[in-house]
Amino acid sequence: MIKEELVKALNEQITAELWSSNLYLAMSFYMANKGFGGMAAWLKKQAAEEWEHANMLANWTIKRGGKPEVDKIDVVPNDFGTPLEVFKQVYEHECRVSRLIDNLVDVASAAKDKASQDFLWGFVREQVEEEETAQGIVDMIEKAGEAGLYHIDEKLGQRK
Ligand SMILES: [Fe+2]
Ligand SMILES: [Fe+2]
Repeated sequence: MIKEELVKALNEQITAELWSSNLYLAMSFYMANKGFGGMAAWLKKQAAEEWEHANMLANWTIKRGGKPEVDKIDVVPNDFGTPLEVFKQVYEHECRVSRLIDNLVDVASAAKDKASQDFLWGFVREQVEEEETAQGIVDMIEKAGEAGLYHIDEKLGQRK
């Protein structure tokens, strides 16, 4: 049986993942409006991934006998600047999420819940990928400059 303090922390992370999903959806709409359809498609897939993370956390909570809840999701920004600024914000956001996940592991550890720690290591590993991917796109945009943006847009549009 999962401890209440861990259920509370998992529910907070569910809210954080849903907020992330909305953030990326807002970024996707923003980029589509600016004519970067490929980047918009990439960001929409990112939004779907975050929504899936919320579901994974809820499924785990249910599996361990806890009650997942969907709380109020805060408003997200709707203006993000240049494509470079957009992806810098993606990177910074993923770094923030990594810290949240680390804190969640600490709660599971304090609760001596080994199974939940094992489950959460998957998220720790996922964050390494998330940071690397976002940083990679920032680097790519910086190298390509203004003239290379349309090529990058096409490339990001190919995300599976
Ligand atoms: Fe996530
Ligand atoms: Fe993420």
